[in-house]
Amino acid sequence: MISDWKQAEEALRDVEIVGYQNNKPVSVISFSEELRCIGIGTDAAVFYYPNTPNYAFKVYSDQSLEKKKIEAGIYESLNGSRYFPECYGSGPNYLVLSYEQGITLYDCLLQGIHVPEQVIQDVEDAREFVRSLGLNPRDIHLKNVLLQEGRGKVLDVSEYDKEGNDNRWEHLVWSYKHFYTLIRGVQVPIWILETITNWYNRIDTANFGIEDFSKRVSRLFFRERK
Ligand SMILES: Nc1ncnc2c1ncn2[C@@H]1O[C@H](COP(=O)(O)OP(=O)(O)O)[C@@H](O)[C@H]1O
Ligand SMILES: [Mg+2]
Repeated sequence: MISDWKQAEEALRDVEIVGYQNNKPVSVISFSEELRCIGIGTDAAVFYYPNTPNYAFKVYSDQSLEKKKIEAGIYESLNGSRYFPECYGSGPNYLVLSYEQGITLYDCLLQGIHVPEQVIQDVEDAREFVRSLGLNPRDIHLKNVLLQEGRGKVLDVSEYDKEGNDNRWEHLVWSYKHFYTLIRGVQVPIWILETITNWYNRIDTANFGIEDFSKRVSRLFFRERK
């Protein structure tokens, strides 16, 4: 098959991404006018090239470059599963993925867009599938799941070869079940979402209880107003 995404090669050569420590999002230092940035993560920025609209190009920072090969290998194991983007190839510092429509669950909260239970189920099924391959479905959080026509799609498979459960998805499911009705349809302001994220990133995992954490969040931000 001809790799038509290669048309984007030249534009991608101009992209430079810098990474930081402590879960901070990357910065795009230089780019090409022909590319549009469609997402920022902690390892990479993701771009769209209008002449090849079916692809998304995940460009890694120098600091995270070694993850490119790892993530490509994991995509190979996932073998075109419908729960994940497809990976079609790679360049020196990027992966070529299927462009996925939709918005992240994080953006759903910001915009007050309802997240149906089916999305939660799809992610659960995706995780089961990953486990069946002997991989570990880690790092699944609000910015790594897309709402796509009422269904869930999981992005960012780069940590599935690591050990251990970060519990992020379990905590989100718990919060969805016990808490989501309170904020359903509400546009949650970005400073509230970021404050919750910062609290969450500071927690001492040994003593963490999602019930207490959620209570604290709901008391501070979502208490009924007269
Ligand atoms: N295949 C894709 N199609 C559309 N958008 C994507 C795709 N992959 C990633 N994104 C967007 O880019 C963001 C960062 O991508 P991600 O793979 O999570 O990077 P990182 O590994 O740095 O966290 C995601 O949160 C999402 O908004
Ligand atoms: Mg990510």
